[in-house]
Amino acid sequence: MTTPHINAAKDAFAPICLLPGDPLRAEFIANSFLTDAKQVTNVRNMLGFTGTYKGVPVSVMGSGMGIPSCSIYATELIRFYGVKQLVRVGSCGAVQPDINLHDIILAQGASTDSGVNRQRFSGLDFAAIADFGLLRKVAEQAEQTNLKVRVGNVFSADLFYQDDRSRLELLRKYGILGVEMEAAGLYGVAAEHGVAALTVLTVSDHIARGEAMSSSERQIGFRDMVQLTLDALI
Ligand code: ADE
Repeated sequence: MTTPHINAAKDAFAPICLLPGDPLRAEFIANSFLTDAKQVTNVRNMLGFTGTYKGVPVSVMGSGMGIPSCSIYATELIRFYGVKQLVRVGSCGAVQPDINLHDIILAQGASTDSGVNRQRFSGLDFAAIADFGLLRKVAEQAEQTNLKVRVGNVFSADLFYQDDRSRLELLRKYGILGVEMEAAGLYGVAAEHGVAALTVLTVSDHIARGEAMSSSERQIGFRDMVQLTLDALI
Protein backbone atom coordinates (compact mmCIF):
# COMPACT_ATOMS: atom_id res chain seq x y z
CA MET A 1 0.00 0.00 0.00
CA THR A 2 1.15 3.53 -0.64
CA THR A 3 -0.38 6.90 0.15
CA PRO A 4 0.41 10.12 -1.73
CA HIS A 5 3.37 10.76 0.60
CA ILE A 6 4.34 7.40 2.15
CA ASN A 7 5.38 4.30 0.17
CA ALA A 8 5.47 1.78 3.03
CA ALA A 9 3.79 -1.61 3.31
CA LYS A 10 0.46 -1.58 5.16
CA ASP A 11 1.86 -3.02 8.39
CA ALA A 12 5.18 -1.17 8.22
CA PHE A 13 4.60 1.28 11.09
CA ALA A 14 4.41 0.61 14.81
CA PRO A 15 1.52 2.10 16.87
CA ILE A 16 4.06 4.54 18.39
CA CYS A 17 5.81 6.94 16.02
CA LEU A 18 8.32 9.67 16.84
CA LEU A 19 8.23 12.65 14.49
CA PRO A 20 11.36 14.80 14.19
CA GLY A 21 11.08 17.58 11.61
CA ASP A 22 14.26 16.56 9.79
CA PRO A 23 14.29 13.16 8.01
CA LEU A 24 18.03 12.82 8.74
CA ARG A 25 17.16 13.12 12.42
CA ALA A 26 14.71 10.25 11.89
CA GLU A 27 17.60 8.23 10.44
CA PHE A 28 19.81 9.23 13.37
CA ILE A 29 17.18 8.06 15.89
CA ALA A 30 16.70 4.78 14.00
CA ASN A 31 20.45 4.10 13.88
CA SER A 32 21.32 5.28 17.41
CA PHE A 33 18.36 4.16 19.51
CA LEU A 34 16.41 1.41 17.75
CA THR A 35 17.30 -2.26 17.28
CA ASP A 36 16.89 -3.86 13.83
CA ALA A 37 15.64 -0.59 12.35
CA LYS A 38 14.54 -0.82 8.72
CA GLN A 39 13.74 2.04 6.39
CA VAL A 40 10.06 1.74 5.43
CA THR A 41 9.41 4.87 3.34
CA ASN A 42 11.39 7.40 1.31
CA VAL A 43 8.96 9.49 -0.76
CA ARG A 44 10.52 12.97 -1.24
CA ASN A 45 13.37 11.70 0.98
CA MET A 46 11.03 12.05 3.97
CA LEU A 47 12.52 8.95 5.55
CA GLY A 48 10.65 6.66 7.94
CA PHE A 49 11.97 3.68 9.92
CA THR A 50 10.62 0.94 12.16
CA GLY A 51 12.63 -1.00 14.72
CA THR A 52 12.32 -1.90 18.38
CA TYR A 53 13.23 -0.20 21.66
CA LYS A 54 13.59 -2.58 24.61
CA GLY A 55 11.79 -5.14 22.45
CA VAL A 56 8.80 -2.89 21.70
CA PRO A 57 8.11 -1.88 18.06
CA VAL A 58 8.71 1.84 17.48
CA SER A 59 8.65 3.92 14.29
CA VAL A 60 10.25 7.23 13.54
CA MET A 61 9.57 9.46 10.55
CA GLY A 62 10.43 12.97 9.43
CA SER A 63 7.51 15.40 9.48
CA GLY A 64 9.04 18.28 7.54
CA MET A 65 8.74 21.89 8.67
CA GLY A 66 5.49 23.70 9.41
CA ILE A 67 1.93 22.68 10.14
CA PRO A 68 0.91 21.74 6.56
CA SER A 69 3.80 19.28 6.13
CA CYS A 70 3.49 17.78 9.61
CA SER A 71 -0.30 17.47 9.19
CA ILE A 72 0.04 15.53 5.93
CA TYR A 73 2.37 12.92 7.42
CA ALA A 74 0.47 12.66 10.70
CA THR A 75 -2.85 12.19 8.89
CA GLU A 76 -1.52 9.46 6.58
CA LEU A 77 0.23 7.67 9.46
CA ILE A 78 -3.02 7.62 11.43
CA ARG A 79 -5.52 6.89 8.64
CA PHE A 80 -3.57 4.40 6.54
CA TYR A 81 -0.95 2.96 8.87
CA GLY A 82 -2.80 2.72 12.18
CA VAL A 83 -0.42 4.90 14.22
CA LYS A 84 -2.02 5.67 17.59
CA GLN A 85 0.63 7.67 19.47
CA LEU A 86 2.49 10.47 17.68
CA VAL A 87 5.28 12.24 19.48
CA ARG A 88 6.97 15.19 17.86
CA VAL A 89 10.59 15.59 18.97
CA GLY A 90 11.78 18.98 17.81
CA SER A 91 13.32 22.30 18.69
CA CYS A 92 11.98 25.69 19.63
CA GLY A 93 13.00 29.26 20.27
CA ALA A 94 12.57 30.32 23.90
CA VAL A 95 10.41 33.29 24.83
CA GLN A 96 10.62 33.50 28.64
CA PRO A 97 13.66 35.04 30.40
CA ASP A 98 13.98 32.07 32.78
CA ILE A 99 14.27 29.52 29.96
CA ASN A 100 17.71 28.73 28.57
CA LEU A 101 19.33 26.96 25.64
CA HIS A 102 19.25 23.14 26.13
CA ASP A 103 16.13 23.25 28.33
CA ILE A 104 13.44 20.71 27.49
CA ILE A 105 9.84 21.85 27.07
CA LEU A 106 6.76 19.61 27.05
CA ALA A 107 4.07 21.33 25.00
CA GLN A 108 0.97 20.87 27.15
CA GLY A 109 -0.88 23.17 24.76
CA ALA A 110 -0.13 24.93 21.49
CA SER A 111 -1.40 28.39 20.59
CA THR A 112 -1.01 29.41 16.96
CA ASP A 113 -1.47 31.99 14.21
CA SER A 114 -2.38 29.16 11.82
CA GLY A 115 -5.99 28.78 10.69
CA VAL A 116 -5.98 24.98 10.40
CA ASN A 117 -7.78 24.17 13.64
CA ARG A 118 -10.45 26.80 12.98
CA GLN A 119 -11.00 25.15 9.60
CA ARG A 120 -11.48 21.73 11.15
CA PHE A 121 -13.47 23.09 14.14
CA SER A 122 -16.18 25.02 12.21
CA GLY A 123 -14.59 28.43 12.75
CA LEU A 124 -14.48 28.02 16.53
CA ASP A 125 -11.34 28.28 18.68
CA PHE A 126 -10.02 24.78 19.38
CA ALA A 127 -7.73 24.36 22.41
CA ALA A 128 -4.89 22.30 20.93
CA ILE A 129 -3.60 20.16 23.79
CA ALA A 130 -1.30 17.20 24.33
CA ASP A 131 -2.57 13.79 25.37
CA PHE A 132 -2.41 13.80 29.16
CA GLY A 133 -1.23 10.17 29.41
CA LEU A 134 1.77 10.80 27.14
CA LEU A 135 2.51 14.14 28.82
CA ARG A 136 2.42 12.58 32.29
CA LYS A 137 4.72 9.72 31.29
CA VAL A 138 7.42 12.04 29.94
CA ALA A 139 7.08 14.47 32.88
CA GLU A 140 7.39 11.59 35.38
CA GLN A 141 10.37 10.09 33.57
CA ALA A 142 12.10 13.48 33.66
CA GLU A 143 11.42 13.76 37.39
CA GLN A 144 12.80 10.27 38.05
CA THR A 145 16.00 11.03 36.14
CA ASN A 146 16.40 14.50 37.68
CA LEU A 147 16.03 16.15 34.30
CA LYS A 148 14.34 19.52 34.61
CA VAL A 149 11.58 20.03 32.08
CA ARG A 150 9.14 22.89 31.65
CA VAL A 151 5.52 22.06 30.91
CA GLY A 152 3.17 24.60 29.37
CA ASN A 153 1.91 26.46 26.35
CA VAL A 154 3.99 26.89 23.20
CA PHE A 155 3.24 28.90 20.06
CA SER A 156 3.17 27.22 16.64
CA ALA A 157 4.04 29.94 14.14
CA ASP A 158 3.42 29.90 10.40
CA LEU A 159 6.31 32.28 9.80
CA PHE A 160 9.83 31.40 10.93
CA TYR A 161 11.07 34.87 9.97
CA GLN A 162 8.76 37.00 12.09
CA ASP A 163 10.43 40.07 13.51
CA ASP A 164 7.56 41.52 15.49
CA ARG A 165 8.82 42.59 18.94
CA SER A 166 5.36 43.49 20.22
CA ARG A 167 4.11 40.01 19.37
CA LEU A 168 7.06 38.53 21.25
CA GLU A 169 6.16 40.64 24.28
CA LEU A 170 2.54 39.45 24.03
CA LEU A 171 3.65 35.80 23.96
CA ARG A 172 5.90 36.40 26.97
CA LYS A 173 3.09 38.08 28.89
CA TYR A 174 0.73 35.17 28.23
CA GLY A 175 3.27 32.63 29.48
CA ILE A 176 4.21 31.06 26.14
CA LEU A 177 7.38 29.06 26.76
CA GLY A 178 8.69 28.73 23.22
CA VAL A 179 7.95 29.16 19.53
CA GLU A 180 8.02 26.29 17.06
CA MET A 181 6.06 25.46 13.92
CA GLU A 182 4.12 22.18 14.19
CA ALA A 183 2.54 21.30 17.56
CA ALA A 184 -0.86 23.00 17.09
CA GLY A 185 -1.34 21.20 13.78
CA LEU A 186 -0.28 17.84 15.18
CA TYR A 187 -2.65 18.21 18.14
CA GLY A 188 -5.51 19.16 15.81
CA VAL A 189 -4.92 16.13 13.56
CA ALA A 190 -4.75 13.85 16.61
CA ALA A 191 -8.01 15.26 18.01
CA GLU A 192 -9.75 14.88 14.65
CA HIS A 193 -8.83 11.18 14.60
CA GLY A 194 -9.15 10.37 18.31
CA VAL A 195 -5.50 9.42 18.80
CA ALA A 196 -2.80 10.64 21.20
CA ALA A 197 -0.11 13.24 20.47
CA LEU A 198 2.63 15.04 22.36
CA THR A 199 5.37 17.51 21.45
CA VAL A 200 8.73 17.44 23.22
CA LEU A 201 11.11 20.31 22.42
CA THR A 202 14.72 21.25 23.06
CA VAL A 203 15.38 24.97 23.25
CA SER A 204 17.76 25.58 20.34
CA ASP A 205 17.64 29.37 20.39
CA HIS A 206 16.46 32.20 22.58
CA ILE A 207 14.38 34.61 20.55
CA ALA A 208 14.36 37.49 23.04
CA ARG A 209 18.10 37.24 23.81
CA GLY A 210 19.28 36.42 20.28
CA GLU A 211 21.19 33.30 21.42
CA ALA A 212 21.52 30.05 19.45
CA MET A 213 23.05 26.62 19.96
CA SER A 214 25.85 25.41 17.70
CA SER A 215 25.04 22.39 15.52
CA SER A 216 27.04 20.03 17.78
CA GLU A 217 25.18 21.38 20.83
CA ARG A 218 21.90 20.81 18.97
CA GLN A 219 22.86 17.20 18.33
CA ILE A 220 23.61 16.55 22.03
CA GLY A 221 20.40 18.24 23.13
CA PHE A 222 18.44 16.26 20.59
CA ARG A 223 19.95 12.99 21.81
CA ASP A 224 19.03 13.73 25.47
CA MET A 225 15.47 14.58 24.50
CA VAL A 226 15.00 11.41 22.42
CA GLN A 227 16.45 9.26 25.22
CA LEU A 228 14.03 10.83 27.70
CA THR A 229 11.08 10.35 25.38
CA LEU A 230 11.78 6.72 24.52
CA ASP A 231 12.48 5.78 28.15
CA ALA A 232 9.25 7.47 29.17
CA LEU A 233 7.05 5.80 26.58
CA ILE A 234 8.57 2.31 26.58
N1 ADE B 1 12.32 26.22 15.92
C1 ADE B 1 13.48 26.43 16.57
N2 ADE B 1 13.66 27.73 16.82
C2 ADE B 1 12.57 28.37 16.30
C3 ADE B 1 12.16 29.69 16.22
N3 ADE B 1 12.93 30.66 16.72
N4 ADE B 1 11.01 29.98 15.61
C4 ADE B 1 10.25 29.02 15.08
N5 ADE B 1 10.59 27.73 15.12
C5 ADE B 1 11.73 27.40 15.72
